[in-house]
Amino acid sequence: KIIVLDFGSQYNQLITRRIRDMGVYSELMAHTITADEVKALNPKGIIFSGGPNSVYAEDALRVDPEIFKLGIPILGICYGMQLMAYTLGGQVKSDNGQYGRAAITVTSDDAKLFANTPKEQNVWMSHGDLVTKVPEGFTDVATSRDCPISAMQDTERNFYGIQFHAEVRNTDYGNEILKHFAFDVCHAEANWSMDDFIDLQIQHIRETVGDKKVLLGLSGGVDSSVVGVLLHKAIGNQLTSIFVDHGLLRKNEASQVMNSLKGKFGLNIVEVNAADRFLSKLKGVSDPEKKRKIIGNEFIQVFNDEAQKLNGIDFLAQGTLYTDVVESGTDTAQTIKSHHNVGGLPEDMHFQLIEPLRTLFKDEARELGEKLGMPSELVWRQPFPGPGLGIRVLGEITPEKLEIVRDSDYILRDEIKKAGLDRDIWQYFTVLPGFRSVGVMGDGRTYDYTVGIRAVTSIDGMTADFAHIPYDVLAKVSTRIVNEVKHVNRIVYDVTSKPPSTVEWE
Ligand code: XMP
Repeated sequence: KIIVLDFGSQYNQLITRRIRDMGVYSELMAHTITADEVKALNPKGIIFSGGPNSVYAEDALRVDPEIFKLGIPILGICYGMQLMAYTLGGQVKSDNGQYGRAAITVTSDDAKLFANTPKEQNVWMSHGDLVTKVPEGFTDVATSRDCPISAMQDTERNFYGIQFHAEVRNTDYGNEILKHFAFDVCHAEANWSMDDFIDLQIQHIRETVGDKKVLLGLSGGVDSSVVGVLLHKAIGNQLTSIFVDHGLLRKNEASQVMNSLKGKFGLNIVEVNAADRFLSKLKGVSDPEKKRKIIGNEFIQVFNDEAQKLNGIDFLAQGTLYTDVVESGTDTAQTIKSHHNVGGLPEDMHFQLIEPLRTLFKDEARELGEKLGMPSELVWRQPFPGPGLGIRVLGEITPEKLEIVRDSDYILRDEIKKAGLDRDIWQYFTVLPGFRSVGVMGDGRTYDYTVGIRAVTSIDGMTADFAHIPYDVLAKVSTRIVNEVKHVNRIVYDVTSKPPSTVEWE
């Protein structure tokens, strides 16, 4: 395996992902890992991720210098390269920074990571500082206008540094570069697959759980359903699932999930209708972060209540994905939004957490679901956030507004499916911004709500583009919503990507 040390970049798990995609197992580890611990893991290679710090910052994240003496190949990316240069005696300078696509020139004929790639190529830069002098034993092998030392290598010790992010798709030959590191430098073997992940997780879950009992919150989405089936496979009836209907679900969602997971897979599911409880807690609250926290907390509360009825539950399983973890802020990455699965946990939680999907991206979770034999309607369900329609009614949530979102969303989904676009568009839904505008229907003036259509294409939810739904499909959706959903007289289409927007509006 190849381990990735986490220095706080938003992209760090993407590195492990790229490596896993090559068939090599890869895991993200804390940067505080000691040389002895690394040795015990016996990795074929180590990658230092990027990070937001400067090596000169007082609280800069460092690495155990003994790691450089283990004889294991190391690749430093961005901050990782600067840290490598700094630790080994090179020089790093603070600079204006460079963000976005940049052209680099490979200046050395034996730049190992750039083998069989063009001399001129585009890469993705995102850094403040840069390396101005390579440490002894290194040579610089690539350059760009704003970053004279864009890559460096020490083929003797097998240390490599790249200032750009090879892990993001905007770097033309990023995958090749990582492949050269994994296979030519580290001599890793491509023998890892999702089946191994399943075996590993099942073994891990069994070891962790022993003969104790686990409770799972089924939300209706892909993630928790996959966790449910995985856990059921690992520990059978030691798993009790609770399906909380928080009143913020999509139309018919509850019955679909129950039919499949309870009916087909035989999961032991307790269904709780807590809609009133959630709605009364949310009454009068319009701040998005407060809403998320309330829904998250309430969710756990309902669990606590149910768990007490069940007796002797020690673990709580959740379908947290990597994207949820990083956007809620890990030890090293900055917070963007507090996600339901992570941010809402109260301090006095009575359970230990099990989060088997914590290192996976959405598409990997789907692949896992398929490997587990789950039907495609369930696996290919579009992602649905834990706080549900609660963050799609902007501002204060009322039953009337919820109904508008629920019914308009249902129509959108229906038309997208009829148009055969449901697999192409990663996520599509409607939102209710909450303002009203003037319209005319029949012969009368109306003063009613606007519904927004949000549809995005994405691979992993970290970045997204707005989906280009054909106009005729949009027209049908629009006509149907204004005709079939009361109190709506205007439809708008969200044409922003992420970043700068996020997928959800709250
Ligand atoms: P954003 O809005 O952050 O969404 O660009 C990225 C993806 O995450 C989903 N999402 C959530 N999922 N709990 C979840 O389980 C949440 O609180 C949450 N907020 C957003 C969102 O639907 C999209 O797929």
